[in-house]
Amino acid sequence: MTEATRKTRVVVLLSGSGSNFAAIAAAASNGTLPVEIVAAVSDRPAAFGLERARTLGITAIAVSPRDYPDRASHDLALLDAIDKLAPDLVVCAGYMRIFSPAFVRHYSGRLLNIHPSLLPAYKGLDTHRRALEDGATVHGCSVHYVTEELDGGPVVGQASVPVLPQDTAESLAERVHHAEHRLYPEVVGWYASGRLRMDGQVVFLDGAPISHPVHRSYADATE
Ligand code: GAR
Repeated sequence: MTEATRKTRVVVLLSGSGSNFAAIAAAASNGTLPVEIVAAVSDRPAAFGLERARTLGITAIAVSPRDYPDRASHDLALLDAIDKLAPDLVVCAGYMRIFSPAFVRHYSGRLLNIHPSLLPAYKGLDTHRRALEDGATVHGCSVHYVTEELDGGPVVGQASVPVLPQDTAESLAERVHHAEHRLYPEVVGWYASGRLRMDGQVVFLDGAPISHPVHRSYADATE
């Protein structure tokens, strides 16, 4: 295979259900995304996302923090496991641990994350409940480069969904999830086709710096 036709090698990091991983894997297998998912890697050996990977015939690897004395040594083992897979891009899809600075620096410019809010709003946890408590009428998700600032790296793309009067945190989370499943494969596709890069803290799409994230609005947000 020549360099021009070689698919982008992607490692997905996850801690839970892995529905974003599944959305990216589906786009990869139906040919809309020029990537090869070389493995799903989790901090939780029992994560359902690893089960999904095995079902899809994708390598599933667990690197549990319980087997290491501290964050730095766990992250080193994680880094070692990832590097053995020689990825071009590492995609965090519901990976719920905070990385050490050394880990982030090692993958700088090739580490993406999806966060369930319209960043910079609602960094951290419980984003759907907090949006409801604030009376937000619009909510959504963001794909961003991971930097040393938690949920603070440059945002590449965002998708918004409406907040409905009858919403609970669960119903809103489900609507955001549907939006994530569209947005994340699209952004990964930009990276895989060489359209997306980060230089310093500046994101370039198609060669031009972006001053605002690319925005998608999914009124229905169903798949
Ligand atoms: C997603 O909603 C993702 O945005 C969120 O975890 C969920 C994982 O779902 N990530 C974070 O909260 C990261 N701070 P999935 O396992 O079904 O893809």
